[in-house]
Amino acid sequence: MTLPSYAMNQASFPQMYERWLVGPLFRPWAEMALDELELSSSDRVLDIACGTGILARVARERLGEAGYIVGVDISPDMLAVARALEPAIDWRQGNAGELPLRNGETFDVVVCQQGLQFFPDKPAAAAQMRRALTKGGRLAIATWRPDEIPFFRELRRVAERHLGAIADQRYSFGEAAPLEALLRDAGFHEVRSRIVSRTIHFGEGVPFLHLNTMALVGMSSSAKELGDQERKRVVEAIVSESAPVLQPYTIGSGLAFELSTNLATAKG
Ligand SMILES: C[S@@+](CC[C@H](N)C(=O)[O-])C[C@H]1O[C@@H](n2cnc3c(N)ncnc32)[C@H](O)[C@@H]1O
Repeated sequence: MTLPSYAMNQASFPQMYERWLVGPLFRPWAEMALDELELSSSDRVLDIACGTGILARVARERLGEAGYIVGVDISPDMLAVARALEPAIDWRQGNAGELPLRNGETFDVVVCQQGLQFFPDKPAAAAQMRRALTKGGRLAIATWRPDEIPFFRELRRVAERHLGAIADQRYSFGEAAPLEALLRDAGFHEVRSRIVSRTIHFGEGVPFLHLNTMALVGMSSSAKELGDQERKRVVEAIVSESAPVLQPYTIGSGLAFELSTNLATAKG
């Protein structure tokens, strides 16, 4: 099983992320988070770990040209895609643990969708969120639930046959209690969280599998030693061996599976 020809020109991971994952996987939750925050026209919005910028872009769709929206991400490559898609948003490179904000700059709404689990210093990031939020401002954070669904566990096991144990960071902060405690300790008020599940539909299963494999290889410590050619070979081997895992979730050339996230909200 290989990537279809229309995706074979070795697009960068951020381009592939935007092309294949954002629509089916990230956009619906971004819309839900902004619904939850009851975005209003005068809100200033900060999207932390914005990636290719889906949440900030949905905020702009709702707020229009006058919207004050800032997206921050540590990855210049993710931001390059964000910037190309929506040059009007203020995209800034920076670390969630040390936000690149202007003197005294604050926001009515701070969001962080599927980013917190990757931050090495979560209390520092929570303190930065608190600093960025106006008094009474609204915060929303989404983190995937723990790696409990057999689908992702089985895909990881295939990769581990090639690479040894992989700590999948995507599901590493998936319990609600530590998430809520982090926010309370940072001084947020009215901290609440709930679990939201939805069925995710991919029109094409193969690109999803390829991207998931690239992400797993990227998180493997033993893969860090591999050269580009060898890494590519390992990705192809894992993709090919993963095909049977996809079978029960396959509908035509597409894929459907259920996924759950925590959605924590709080006030400044
Ligand atoms: C799974 S992506 C989520 C992106 C985006 N929020 C979305 O919903 O599509 C995780 C993002 O976190 C970013 N990230 C990881 N560590 C970070 C840090 N310490 N500071 C800022 N961004 C970080 C990555 O570069 C990546 O873009």
